[in-house]
Amino acid sequence: MPAYTAFLNLARRLGPRTAVVLGSGLAGAASDFVEHASVGFGNIPGLVPTTVRGHGSRLAVGVWAGAPALLFLGRLHFYEGHSRGVVTGLVRTAAELGAKRVVLTNAAGGIHPALNPGGLMAIRGHLKLLGPTAWRLLASDNAMSQPYSARLLEVVRAHELASGRELLAGVYAALTGPSYETPAEIRALAAYGADAVGMSTALEAEEAARFGLEVAAISCITNKAAGLGDAAIDHAEVLVNAKLAVVRMGELLGAVISH
Ligand code: HPA
Repeated sequence: MPAYTAFLNLARRLGPRTAVVLGSGLAGAASDFVEHASVGFGNIPGLVPTTVRGHGSRLAVGVWAGAPALLFLGRLHFYEGHSRGVVTGLVRTAAELGAKRVVLTNAAGGIHPALNPGGLMAIRGHLKLLGPTAWRLLASDNAMSQPYSARLLEVVRAHELASGRELLAGVYAALTGPSYETPAEIRALAAYGADAVGMSTALEAEEAARFGLEVAAISCITNKAAGLGDAAIDHAEVLVNAKLAVVRMGELLGAVISH
């Protein structure tokens, strides 16, 4: 039996309600996940292996916080040269496997002054500033203008409040990348109302909402955005700083999954 068919049968038997996408450097957030099976992106129709350092490209099914869950270890990015259709393949796969909601995580640069490396931000809205091809097909696709679930945002906020932590619910600017922004671009993004900046999530969130999934999204702040910190940003630093937040991120994901 092909790898994906076996995985699909097993996943449907387990019946995961929630799918989690773990972004750059965040694999450690899944330490409470008990894996039952996994399949490489390359074996999933419509997906391809990722090319990004610090990202796996595997989909696992298992149990997390007492509930069956799907876990995407890695994602596909627009800047890898993939079309919008390929980038959003993860969430269609999640829907095909029966998920009713998706939690998207990512690494992001902090623009809001309260966002420092190792912190988290819940995403309540986004600016989709991706290259023009990201919009192709949208006219017929009925794009979602507000993909993030107010209900799941409340679950996330309540959990953090009960844990004695503050969590900013902010606006995420999604840029094409893969280069980091210039300080001038960050000043412009701040004026647009962005609180954090990254290179993923927005297209997946819109696609998930289009498929009727509830969407939550959490950014792990790995650096001050360009021009706001002392040093230049580099990918290795992003991966190291993501690790600062994996315990808190893991707890938060567990709270959403078990809700
Ligand atoms: N900009 C864009 N993407 C990012 C950043 C950033 O500063 N940090 C992590 N991902």
